[in-house]
Amino acid sequence: MSDAAEQIPLSGPELGEREEELVLDVLRSGRLSLGPMGERFERAFAEFLGVDDAVAVSSGTAALHLGVRQLGWGPGDEVLTSPFTFVASSNCLLYEGAKPVFVDVDPVTLNIDVEAAAAAVTEKTVGLLPIDIFGWPAAWPELEALAERHGLGVLQDSCEALGAIDSEGRMVGTRGNFSTFAFYANKQMTTGEGGMIVPTDPDAAARLRSERNQGRAIDMGWLDHDRLGFNYRLSDVAAAIGLAQVEKLPRLLEKRAAVAAAYGERLAVAPRIAAPMAARGNEVRSWFVYVVRLADEVDRDAVILRLRERGIDSKSYLPSVHLFPHIAALGYREGQFPIAEAASAQSLALPFFPQMTEEQIERVCTELAAAVDATRRGPR
Ligand SMILES: Cc1ncc(COP(=O)(O)O)c(C=O)c1O
Repeated sequence: MSDAAEQIPLSGPELGEREEELVLDVLRSGRLSLGPMGERFERAFAEFLGVDDAVAVSSGTAALHLGVRQLGWGPGDEVLTSPFTFVASSNCLLYEGAKPVFVDVDPVTLNIDVEAAAAAVTEKTVGLLPIDIFGWPAAWPELEALAERHGLGVLQDSCEALGAIDSEGRMVGTRGNFSTFAFYANKQMTTGEGGMIVPTDPDAAARLRSERNQGRAIDMGWLDHDRLGFNYRLSDVAAAIGLAQVEKLPRLLEKRAAVAAAYGERLAVAPRIAAPMAARGNEVRSWFVYVVRLADEVDRDAVILRLRERGIDSKSYLPSVHLFPHIAALGYREGQFPIAEAASAQSLALPFFPQMTEEQIERVCTELAAAVDATRRGPR
């Protein structure tokens, strides 16, 4: 990297005075957990989504784990899910002894292929755990119909898709099954670490609030516990950041969309680089990451190294989870899900955050085009 070149990171949260103000309110109140800020955050989040209630937890993984428990999935149960995802969605099944059964993804959306899922249903199948990968909405109406046909539960991993719109024009996470969101620092909104689960009804909400708090029933005293629970509480300091972020979420989403559009314009004509789609019919992506697909003749890992030398962070995104040792041990092997595996081999996440400048975007695109050209295999 030349001395003058500024490092362009992969992601970065946009935090400001409102976050500082609300965090300070919490610190001055002395109510650092289970205080009013947590409730304010939950209400504001539910309002943004247009649902009755939402339960804040310590991470997206915690939200998924509680969802698996609410659906009663456990030993002997099989749940259909996507191999092209972050490992948390499969891990949360393993926590409860349920088996993730993978089906390949749609080559365009990279979300679970509905026909493949329908073909994979057996008498052991109890549920679906689809993911809205990279903020693109899964085929929710079709998945819902499939679940209904076979009496399956649905746990929605929308951890990457807050604000996405599905093919029926509905905001992702509002369909009446358990849906989950995550607030790690690279997400559309952040609490540092944190997550949210949208319950199906008030009883489920009460159970979730109990299980995130060591199984304490809402109307019981501090040290009375009537079920197994966890410490999945979100601190009020984190909730304060979350409230400030929800307040400005529409603007954050707009800024992300504008950065994506600027990338899209520049990459539309770039050889051997396929840019992600923003919308199709009613479907609208919520921009979490900006992941391009490089042509097969391009050495993706060499591109990453070359970009790093020039001060630009990028990442292979995502490995297929069925090949991780603890999951492959269930009987999975390379070659089983060719569409997911091909995406894993050639996908590349570029720097992407709401405050990215035109100059930064331009520099990434110029360096990317040069890296792709320099590292492609075969005759020139
Ligand atoms: C698809 C998906 N599922 C689950 C999670 C888990 O969220 P967290 O890291 O907050 O536990 C993430 C976030 O990283 C994710 O991208």
